[in-house]
Amino acid sequence: MKTDLPQSFRRLEYRPPNYTFTQVELDIALDPARTIVKSRLEVLPGSGHESGAPLVLQGYELEFVSLRINGEAHRQFELTPETLTIHALPNEGKQAFIVEIICVCVPEKNTSLMGLYVSNGNFFTQCEAEGFRKITYFLDRPDVMARYRVTLRARESEYPVLLSNGNLISNEKLSNGWHSAVWEDPFPKPSYLFALVAGKLECIEETITTSSGAQKLLQIWVEPHDLKKTRHAMDSLIASIHWDEKRYGLELDLERFMIVAVGDFNMGAMENKGLNVFNTKYVLAQPETATDADFANIESVVAHEYFHNWTGNRVTCRDWFQLSLKEGLTVFRDQEFSADQMGSESGRAVKRIEDVRLLRQLQFPEDAGPMAHPIRPDEYQEINNFYTVTVYEKGAEVVRMYQTLLGVEGFRKGMDLYFLRHDGQAVTCDDFLAAMADANSRDFSQFKHWYSQAGTPHVKVEESYDAGKKQYQITLSQSLSVNTESKDSQTFHIPLKMRLLTDADDQVETLLELTQQQQTWTFDELASRPVLSINRNFSAPIHLDFNQSEADLLVMFSSDDDAFNRWEAGQKLAMQMILGNRLPDPALITAYRNLLTDPDLDPAFKDLALTLPAETYLYEQCASVDPQQIYAARRAFRHAIATELRIEWAALYQQMQTPGPFNPDAASAGKRALKNLALSMLLDADPIIWTPMAVNQYQKADNMTDRYAALAALVIHGSKSAAACLEDFYTRFADDALVIDKWFALQSSRPPVANAESSLSDVKRLREHEAFKMNNPNRVRSVIHAFCMNNPASFHQVDGSGYAFWAESVLALDPINPQVAARLARGLDRWRQFAKPYQDQMLSALKQVNNCETLSADVKEVVSKALG
Ligand code: ARG
Ligand code: ZN
Repeated sequence: MKTDLPQSFRRLEYRPPNYTFTQVELDIALDPARTIVKSRLEVLPGSGHESGAPLVLQGYELEFVSLRINGEAHRQFELTPETLTIHALPNEGKQAFIVEIICVCVPEKNTSLMGLYVSNGNFFTQCEAEGFRKITYFLDRPDVMARYRVTLRARESEYPVLLSNGNLISNEKLSNGWHSAVWEDPFPKPSYLFALVAGKLECIEETITTSSGAQKLLQIWVEPHDLKKTRHAMDSLIASIHWDEKRYGLELDLERFMIVAVGDFNMGAMENKGLNVFNTKYVLAQPETATDADFANIESVVAHEYFHNWTGNRVTCRDWFQLSLKEGLTVFRDQEFSADQMGSESGRAVKRIEDVRLLRQLQFPEDAGPMAHPIRPDEYQEINNFYTVTVYEKGAEVVRMYQTLLGVEGFRKGMDLYFLRHDGQAVTCDDFLAAMADANSRDFSQFKHWYSQAGTPHVKVEESYDAGKKQYQITLSQSLSVNTESKDSQTFHIPLKMRLLTDADDQVETLLELTQQQQTWTFDELASRPVLSINRNFSAPIHLDFNQSEADLLVMFSSDDDAFNRWEAGQKLAMQMILGNRLPDPALITAYRNLLTDPDLDPAFKDLALTLPAETYLYEQCASVDPQQIYAARRAFRHAIATELRIEWAALYQQMQTPGPFNPDAASAGKRALKNLALSMLLDADPIIWTPMAVNQYQKADNMTDRYAALAALVIHGSKSAAACLEDFYTRFADDALVIDKWFALQSSRPPVANAESSLSDVKRLREHEAFKMNNPNRVRSVIHAFCMNNPASFHQVDGSGYAFWAESVLALDPINPQVAARLARGLDRWRQFAKPYQDQMLSALKQVNNCETLSADVKEVVSKALG
């Protein structure tokens, strides 16, 4: 019987380890049905050692075979489904001793994709956060760091390539067609950074010279037929290595750095020391099969994992509550890298807008919902549920605020001190803050609250202008609407970049530091009332409550020199009109027209400025969400932009063509984005004229961006030609899994269109498609998650049919892959926010899932918090 009280882990209950390991030797004989793992551990008392304490190792879904201590069979131990507890240690554990364990695991049965598993006949591992315990019994916690020597054995014909962390020491032929490889990692590491890969893989490689003059070998390993799709990932890796040297003085520390692509993977990628393992989606690209967005994502994920080599691996986390220490910092680093790669100031702004849009679309709802947590959580039941947009993206915003407060140079000083103090250690978010503070002699005691309080702060702006005194005043007040336990909230230290926009254009940008609940600033000698541009470049991750007039917003939308706030003003105007069920008024249409026809503006910026706020972001502005009403209002608004600007759209469609060979750089990608937005608008405005143009673009395109955009426009607008093009697309790319994922996702995320079947019936049919696979996360995400989380107007049906599909899918996925199921389970987090008929239907779907007695800890935590 299950004792059903879920176990909670608490940050304040951290204890240093009783024991630690200095050296780990693994000998792994790989067999899909029965892999034998022998480990030899050099054990020492840990920093929290208590004399006589047993050694408690974690182990999960393992078959125990034998235990020896100092070479002798040892019988004083206990086994539970999750632990191996070893008693009667030599000399009460006060001195070093050797533990040898033999155990067995079954990779071919492992569908959770944590620990050691098989994907398309090859072996892979995923150990973060707690997967190593599914390979062998271990102190599976990040503050236990050891040197690893790994011997891999396997049948040579089936597994010619054997990889692990560090340096290859030897390769040997064994009897019976087996072979072996020995790898040694010179850097001590926690178990979550261990990896092995074995199988039929091939690589492209490149040798580079790093800043100290050392030669380094870079390899990207893939299935042989994918070799031709690795160039972009290699270029991204090389660019990342150079960027980290230049910007932070951080050099690659290993002789060899490997990336491996795998088709079955729970997340994006993993930074295992010297052996990064990637979802194929974030490695493979060529113009015919990958979109501009894919190219950009690959560049940023390759950079992210590479940057972890210092921020995560050389300095790691003491415990999993500190996850944002490495993730927030590394996301910030990859954002800065990608911004630099854009190649221009306007490109940097475009990148910033994209990052903020993602934050507000995904993290703001999380921070207002039942799973809200500080970037450094205080409690969790299942750590895998805390690889969240809060820990990652809001964490990156918090790191960015240090840089805003200290300047780029001050931030660099803080980074230097952080590495000087903590290289080789497992540390906390407090240590990072202390390094930033000490290196700059700053007091960051109030800044700490960003780590401990959940929720998005509100900053209210009140302004006044006194024409007689030529004086302008603003009063800012901060508040936090908390729906979590911590009732009384502490005031935040909020950096707000601001500038007064005046006719004379004589004001400079300044940084306001809001540290009290309420503060007032006065500005003198202003001949006329200025327009306030505040929270420029989104300097703080807040809600800005500012009733700016539509006239002021139009001024900003037309002329704010801060590209982010210029974009933001347009979003606000559109949002207010959509939520007020209004169509764009003539002044806004004129502003749109001027913007679209401005020859000096970056096409990528124009594309973002004319892209309306996402439905889910609009939901966040409502007390009681009616998803069908919001969908209809947003669609009508978009239709008006399409028709009123049809001449401009048609001109842009011609002007934004990018002749010549495909180039994935930001400038060309921006042109394609704007051209394809124009096509979609034109299909909305004048379908009879533009459908043949879209079909023509679909057929003639020499790259996936244009082909997919044309197909998407046809599908989304319910065009008669869509079916034939979809069929053509499927046959054309039938043997390319990542492209077929796009084919599925496009249909699952198609919003409702007149005279077409509902997307729900489409999705149900797709789920029965021969190419649908319930145990491949990418495929599941492209069908089920795409529908439930990326197609709000189809998902939220008054009759609850979308929610019933959701419940059924969560329950079907959970026994196969709890992490992927738990992600889907998040889909009803915000149920309380919806209008009555929806809310009731959502509640009953949640209860249906919650009633299942065999739920994983992952899904259980999500649904019980949603209901709680
Ligand atoms: N550290 C990885 C990254 O951000 C993510 C690994 C997440 N793994 C997991 N099982 N939740 O690059
Ligand atoms: Zn990461």
